[in-house]
Amino acid sequence: MLPFNKPYLTGKEMHYIYQAVYSGKISGNGIFTQRCQNFFEQRYGFKKALLTTSCTDALEMCAILADIMPGDEVIMPSYTFVSTALPFVRQGAKIVFVDSRSDHPGINEDEIEMLITSKTKAIVPVHYAGIACDMDKIMSIARKYNLLVIEDAAQAIDSYYNGKPLGSIGHLAAFSFHETKNINSGEGGLLTINEDRFIKRSEIIWEKGTNRSEFFRGEVNKYGWVDVGSSFLPSEVIAAYLWAQIENIDEIQKKRKKIWNWYYEGLTEWAECNGIMLPVLPQYATNNGHMFYLICKSLSQRNDIIDKLKNENILAVFHYLSLHKSKFYNNKHDGRALVESDRYSDTLVRLPFFYELQYEDVNSVISCLLK
Ligand SMILES: Cc1ncc(COP(=O)(O)O)c(C=O)c1O
Repeated sequence: MLPFNKPYLTGKEMHYIYQAVYSGKISGNGIFTQRCQNFFEQRYGFKKALLTTSCTDALEMCAILADIMPGDEVIMPSYTFVSTALPFVRQGAKIVFVDSRSDHPGINEDEIEMLITSKTKAIVPVHYAGIACDMDKIMSIARKYNLLVIEDAAQAIDSYYNGKPLGSIGHLAAFSFHETKNINSGEGGLLTINEDRFIKRSEIIWEKGTNRSEFFRGEVNKYGWVDVGSSFLPSEVIAAYLWAQIENIDEIQKKRKKIWNWYYEGLTEWAECNGIMLPVLPQYATNNGHMFYLICKSLSQRNDIIDKLKNENILAVFHYLSLHKSKFYNNKHDGRALVESDRYSDTLVRLPFFYELQYEDVNSVISCLLK
């Protein structure tokens, strides 16, 4: 079976894990954590980067930092993963779901402003497939109404909006290093903070509500419980694994973009003839080679494609189900129809995508689709 995903091993992971283990310090915030964080801050210009155990955890930290309270409203797309909404729901927020764009599963930026009320506290755009949302539009709405912007950049490492790295534009952002992502540590994530006012508190929340980070830097002579928080930081074993991936990020990105282009070139004509949409990249967005998806004409066409590929031992998978229709949230949603989100739930299919795919593998997927 050609799998949908296969985590890539650069070959150095065990070497760095060995170093971490034998250094005598394998809890969090050690040498490898610092190395990874410095890399992200320097390469992408984030004011502060903190490794977390997942993107979900980084979003949990965002919800705490944003001081989300019961009754606050948070605006986000319905076509996203549960983790985008969960941390805000845990803080007691009401989620106000926005439909997707008609050309792309990302949030329809033009529908955000009309959903803002006196209770709105934050907007959470999701850079679906690593393709940027229109951040100028979103940031200007946020400025007008004094809202926070938290980028869900789970899939968006090494991707840009008008030359600016994703994750560096909103006040806060969250990345994922889950094994399906371009660089991974099995499970893992990153919180980025782009406003000075959040930095000190973010370290405290990260370290179980204590000022231990300040203590380790010698800034205070004892540490204690000063705020809420949790154990959001990963162990050095995870950071060591991630460092091996980071060292190879350019090579990984080059190969993934190549794979993306093989799919795009091989499928353009076929897609046009069959009423299927291929990914659309707005002029302000870059492609980070995270995923290759098709948007079919109908649910039955999509099921047919998934079945036929499966018969040829190729695993293609659908993606999110609209959150406003989920079992957990449908009775809390305000009843607005979100037709594009539902359309992507029914018609989007993702093709096998991982570093080790060879041209022959991609070609076999393409040939099967053409057939
Ligand atoms: C848009 C989005 N946000 C958040 C997450 C959660 O990431 P993690 O598994 O690292 O918690 C995912 C998972 O892939 C996602 O697709």
